[in-house]
Amino acid sequence: MSTDARERLIFALDVPEPEMAYALIEQLSGHVGLFKVGLELFVRCGPAMIHHIREEARVGVFLDLKLHDIPATVERTMARIADLGVQFATVHCGESPEMLAAAVRGSGGQVGVLGVTVLTSVSADALRLAGFGDGSQSALTELVRQRAAIAKSAGVQGVVCSGLEAAALKADLGEDFLAVTPGIRPAEAAAAGDQQRVVTPGAAIAAGADYLVVGRPIRDARDPAAAADAISAEIAAAL
Ligand code: C5P
Repeated sequence: MSTDARERLIFALDVPEPEMAYALIEQLSGHVGLFKVGLELFVRCGPAMIHHIREEARVGVFLDLKLHDIPATVERTMARIADLGVQFATVHCGESPEMLAAAVRGSGGQVGVLGVTVLTSVSADALRLAGFGDGSQSALTELVRQRAAIAKSAGVQGVVCSGLEAAALKADLGEDFLAVTPGIRPAEAAAAGDQQRVVTPGAAIAAGADYLVVGRPIRDARDPAAAADAISAEIAAAL
């Protein structure tokens, strides 16, 4: 794992138009380790955006499409994702070990497959309403641990979880199993938006997170590069 704080920072390019993405890529190249392309931008721009980031900006890509389908479809889709030359791609881990194993097979060892345990926008109470647990934080953490263990057995490289669960996962599954944490809010950032399980950059790193995913606190800052640098400084202090 890199000790360079910037390498640990993944910026979520959550914008609707290619021009907005190009501007942020230009401002943030050299200030973040990877760019994450999610559903919004991928639906709008498709593989052309991945090629732009890799070839023009020369930065790695995390393609966050959160696959969730029958194993055959997931395997074939992950194989097409592998063709794009991205570094990481996501699959939900709430369904079946077969789906996760299919994602790993489809990756052909060319993409780091990450399992999404429980979205960081989901609270313990929302999970209870969906039929999981009793609404306590410990029941939520237990579910994340269970899903992450299944994901590891299926051969995925790591999971996406909140900083609140990273330490438990590292203890359960070992240092080499990646913990990628969204739901990051710098101490001075007031707005959590739709995120429920939020932690600061320093707390996520202290809990053992390998990568932090940050979107709005950088995207909506008056100076996105300065906001990214401030987060990297917090990461560096915690490393
Ligand atoms: O703007 P914000 O920092 O909340 O963005 C977080 C990003 O991480 C979004 O792109 C979101 O789709 C993604 N994400 C998440 N929780 C997960 C997996 C991905 O927030 N469990």
